[in-house]
Amino acid sequence: MADELDVLLERVGDAALRTDLRTAIDRIRAKRSFGLVFESHIPERVWLPDHPIRRGVMVVHRESDGELLLVDRVRDGEATLVGSDGSIEEANVEDLVVVAEFGQAIYPGLTRLGSINRGDDKPAHIVINGENHHALEALRFTHFGQIDCIYIDPPYNSGARDWKYDNNYVDAEDGYRHSKWLAFMDRRLRLAKHLLNPEDSVLVVTIDEKEFLRLGMLLEEIFRGAKIQMVSIVINAPGQARKQELARTNEFAFFVFIGEAEPVPTADDLLNDRPSGNPARIRWESLLRSGTNSRRRDRPALFYPVFVDPDGGSISGVGEAKPLSAARSTWEVPAGAIAVWPLKSDGSEGNWRASPEYLRRLVVDGHARVGRFDESGRGTIWYLGKSVQRRIASGEVRVVGTDEQGAVVVEPADDVGPRRTVAKTVWNRPAHHAGWHGSALLRALLPDREFPFPKSLYAVEDALRICVGDRPDAVVLDFFAGSGTTAHAVMRLNRQDQGRRQAVLINNNEVSADEAASLTSAGLTRGEPGWEERGIFEFITRPRVTAAVSGFTSTGERVQGDYKFVDAFPMSDGFDENVEFLKLTYLDPVDVELNRAFAAIAPLLWMRAGGVGPAIQECLDEGGRRKPYEFTRHYGVLFDPDTWRDFADQLPDSARTVFIVTDSPSTFAGIVEALPERIEAVRLYENYLTTFAINRGR
Ligand SMILES: C[S@@+](CC[C@H](N)C(=O)[O-])C[C@H]1O[C@@H](n2cnc3c(N)ncnc32)[C@H](O)[C@@H]1O
Repeated sequence: MADELDVLLERVGDAALRTDLRTAIDRIRAKRSFGLVFESHIPERVWLPDHPIRRGVMVVHRESDGELLLVDRVRDGEATLVGSDGSIEEANVEDLVVVAEFGQAIYPGLTRLGSINRGDDKPAHIVINGENHHALEALRFTHFGQIDCIYIDPPYNSGARDWKYDNNYVDAEDGYRHSKWLAFMDRRLRLAKHLLNPEDSVLVVTIDEKEFLRLGMLLEEIFRGAKIQMVSIVINAPGQARKQELARTNEFAFFVFIGEAEPVPTADDLLNDRPSGNPARIRWESLLRSGTNSRRRDRPALFYPVFVDPDGGSISGVGEAKPLSAARSTWEVPAGAIAVWPLKSDGSEGNWRASPEYLRRLVVDGHARVGRFDESGRGTIWYLGKSVQRRIASGEVRVVGTDEQGAVVVEPADDVGPRRTVAKTVWNRPAHHAGWHGSALLRALLPDREFPFPKSLYAVEDALRICVGDRPDAVVLDFFAGSGTTAHAVMRLNRQDQGRRQAVLINNNEVSADEAASLTSAGLTRGEPGWEERGIFEFITRPRVTAAVSGFTSTGERVQGDYKFVDAFPMSDGFDENVEFLKLTYLDPVDVELNRAFAAIAPLLWMRAGGVGPAIQECLDEGGRRKPYEFTRHYGVLFDPDTWRDFADQLPDSARTVFIVTDSPSTFAGIVEALPERIEAVRLYENYLTTFAINRGR
């Protein structure tokens, strides 16, 4: 194949075209050097139903959602449309909808749909109706590197028209079925990666036998260097008989541990009869990185000397990194100290697992110490990872003294309840039965509705406990929310340890293939209220989350039955939590008014500031003029930089984030300098839309 391409390339007459083609092909070859090969397919497109039909925009017919057409003229409600082959047709604007395609900038906004307030000053769980690709892009503004855990249960690509690529259901006859699924997942996982905290976070993706092989390879490609494990979860122990197959009992979950993340030990190992093994060990870890990215040239900023006092054998200082070209001899070593370098066992230069700044903090806290070392610069530096630090903070691990180096001496506390152990890679618990604790539980909440294959609430809870059980303020994202099980599980974890974890959920409002057929035969089309109210977000996600929090079913009765297992109590108690329901919208860049733009991005600012308390909405005074600034207890927006002194004086002590509207970098920098250090300042362009453009030219 490769040779054939080279031969064909030589036959291209146009030299410039030949060069361009060669560059493009070389790029593809470099990227897909092994295994996983798939097309990127046509970019998916998105409906922009609020955008006016006018000359120059691309549209589709609402009903067929087929060929893309360019609007050439609009007069008296009739549009003249040009097809890709130059054909001309007329259509009523009511029958058309604007669409955005790959490469066109689009501008996300959020509309508030409603809220539930039962959780005082806890962060609100955020539940968004939207296409997840664009919602993930919008989250780059609000949650870049801030997410502690993503749990997703994407469509399994069963061939039974269970998901849509570019607005079309994908079925078993589609020859590109697997390739389309990979393209779909690849785009979203790459976006999601930016949201995960690179230092310490976990991604969980559930899957079954249809796509687990391809998904595993995709995850390896996107999350290079992370620890990836696959767990087998028994979701139906009696087994489901299948023709010519063994009876199926399980599905899988990939756990991707990023940065320093590791499984949180729990009271149940999820496989054996009784919690087994010793209490989770307290491990000092080697600061020397091993495995991928462990050479100096992979991470030059993590190559620096640790200065050791040869007499006391303790860390006396930490040097700074230098450019890759700098030889070790160019570092100045303090008098009397020995420089210990990140050297691999073969003597080659490696790198440390922490920045100089972080290591200094570890030394001050007594969380780093020296092992063996010699004059040549070889040696071992040990440190306590984030998980042990968290266990110290929670009291599960006790500091009983300091050693001769000033490092802490730690041991497990003996009064912290059951012994904890790391969960196994095979889970076999009745609590994970999808029929009993997924479908049946959902039926208790939404007695008048059906949703295919919700996860067992307790299976999601167990997965999240392993990821964020020791982080009471974690942010958990699920962008294939379905019935909202993930938010429900987060609320249960919060109740168990009085946590303030926040769930961020995204689901679109599509209808199933069967539902679409019956709505169409009832004379409805997508976009009409009768159709939209049957969409998954409106019909399932939102009512399920509402029922779980309020304790009242979708039909208005108290929810029957009790929660089971780790925390048993009546489901009708609900949860003391806050929830904000939002809809992703797309602003029209041409005729958007400043005020409207602000209203649409206001929820994004609130989310970025933590999603706590009320949002800053309209900022107009009684005369309809924009106020110079506005704030809540948690954040502020400065519209008129000239008034920054008053703004800074009045900003409450509890505020942590401010947004400053200015096009001038120097004005911004000047104000930031004068603000207290605890404040994170974010610049917004005067034209808000410029800040939020997404989907541009990739
Ligand atoms: C397998 S379900 C998730 C079920 C969920 N874990 C539960 O327990 O209910 C996958 C969900 O992803 C949603 N979905 C699929 N493609 C999407 C997209 N592009 N944007 C947003 N949601 C999408 C579907 O509507 C479906 O509800």
